[in-house]
Amino acid sequence: MGKNKQLRLGASIHGVGSSHTAWRHPDIPADASVNLSFYTRQAQKAEEGKFDFVFIADGLYINDKSIPHFLNRFEPITILSALSSVTSHIGVVGTLSTSYSEPFTVARQFASLDHISKGRAGWNVVTTPLEGTALNYGGRSHPSHSERYQIAEEYLEVVKGLWDSWEDDAFIRDKESGTFFNPLKLHRFDHEGSYFSVQGPLNIARSSQGQPVIFQAGSSDSGRNLAAKTADAVFTGPDSLEEAKQFYNDVKQRAAAYGRSPDEILILPGIGPIVGSTEEEAELKYREIAELVTPEKALQYLGRYFEHHDFSQYPLDEPFPELGDFGSNSFRSTTDRIKQRAKEDNLTLRQVALQEATPRTAFIGTPAKVADLVQQWFEEEAADGFIIGSSVPGGLDDFVEQVLPILRDRGLFRTDYEEDTLRGNLGIPIPVNRYAKQKDTAING
Ligand SMILES: Cc1cc2nc3c(=O)[nH]c(=O)nc-3n(C[C@H](O)[C@H](O)[C@H](O)COP(=O)(O)O)c2cc1C
Repeated sequence: MGKNKQLRLGASIHGVGSSHTAWRHPDIPADASVNLSFYTRQAQKAEEGKFDFVFIADGLYINDKSIPHFLNRFEPITILSALSSVTSHIGVVGTLSTSYSEPFTVARQFASLDHISKGRAGWNVVTTPLEGTALNYGGRSHPSHSERYQIAEEYLEVVKGLWDSWEDDAFIRDKESGTFFNPLKLHRFDHEGSYFSVQGPLNIARSSQGQPVIFQAGSSDSGRNLAAKTADAVFTGPDSLEEAKQFYNDVKQRAAAYGRSPDEILILPGIGPIVGSTEEEAELKYREIAELVTPEKALQYLGRYFEHHDFSQYPLDEPFPELGDFGSNSFRSTTDRIKQRAKEDNLTLRQVALQEATPRTAFIGTPAKVADLVQQWFEEEAADGFIIGSSVPGGLDDFVEQVLPILRDRGLFRTDYEEDTLRGNLGIPIPVNRYAKQKDTAING
């Protein structure tokens, strides 16, 4: 393997799939979303492929229109803890919302996962788009889009501060002298901000990677700024190579404006490759999944992005309805994109709904074609790597067994893990404890 820049890869494990109907495919276990063996197998397959990490997405609100995977699925930290004990090198990354949780608890949870996995934890920071979530958390109102990002920024400041509570050599554990820890290496955070008041210190030390890796998945203006300022890696869902390049360039520039090196932040578009031994076979695999989706289910799928709006009230074969600002307080970047594309391409409601519910990415074809596209996006600076979703049953296996060998032959992807930690494998530096830099630190407070 050459010393040239390497692709970074994550595998999204998404139970019975991302549509209303994928669970009906004969090769998908109908209980996959709560099936530990299914998750274990996927994680071990991704580790066999030397992926950097597995990813578990999450949300906190369902109703009877939600896709089957959302109705009955594992909580991310819990399943990631289990997966970390049946794997040894692959990173374990999960979503947790900054709008509906407390920073002290979340700092503890991810620090614990980081220890359990021996330095392989990552947190996908999301601000939670779905308004209904508020109904599950004390009935307070759903914060506006911009406020959610303000909360997230302060939240991350607190969590990162708490993670530094203990300097790396704070625990002496000397039974003879009875010295468990060095009090000069313990630090309270004493945070008083607009949204949080947190004293600290945290009741768990740093792991071998210093702090869990921060991922971010918002694509709006505020989402991009939060990522550029605080994230180690960014998930994005571009429609085309051009859009991906634009996003890549934009976030790297924003990072530079915050005084960071553009190399410190990895851009990872989500793709769902579908691989076949011929173009026709790949196309058939796509159609098998796509044809399970009815227009009614596609409308429900679309509705979730727009605060569970009932799209069945509009004629299916007329132009996509005029929705004004609707959707901008939930999945803003996604709803903006849907509205804009419908207008530009003169699409009907049926076309929009089917496009969203059965997305047809460019990454469909023979292993060589998919590898060519991955290489093109990587080399043309549209991506530092990808998060691979399983669009069809066996999609991860196909990618590992058929596409990765080609990418390896081209020197673009590792043959083995370089390091034991997620930061090490992603090539991201371990953050030095903020207090360790100061000499003769006196105990805070
Ligand atoms: C690969 C990927 C994974 C995502 N995972 C989650 C998730 O687990 N939970 C969630 O609420 N949103 C998730 N999102 C959506 C984003 O958090 C965000 O809500 C959406 O991109 C809209 O961003 P904006 O609010 O900045 O416009 C994901 C997006 C992408 C591209």
